[in-house]
Amino acid sequence: MPTIVVVETSAGASKTLEAPSGGALIDICDRQRAPVPFSCRSASCATCQIEVVEGAELLEPPAEEEQDLLDVLEGPASSRLACQAKVKPGPGLLKIKPIGT
Ligand code: FES
Repeated sequence: MPTIVVVETSAGASKTLEAPSGGALIDICDRQRAPVPFSCRSASCATCQIEVVEGAELLEPPAEEEQDLLDVLEGPASSRLACQAKVKPGPGLLKIKPIGT
């Protein structure tokens, strides 16, 4: 089962989320009240931009809509949109850090 660790940069704290069967990262974060901000939820505002610190292979590759926005955003090469990213089922550790917190 993948484990997701959300790192809160402002306080230096982290929250661990369980994602036993993978799925949409936005739903995993919502259900477990992770400190990842969302707004449009449709790959247009970038509020949910995250840096993938570890375990990028546990995410499905970005779809065209997500990649189009990532291409115009400034951010780490490992950044993703939490509202679009999908977690693969299976074991592993995924560490993400909200950008701008
Ligand atoms: S919430 Fe707007 S791009 Fe993800």
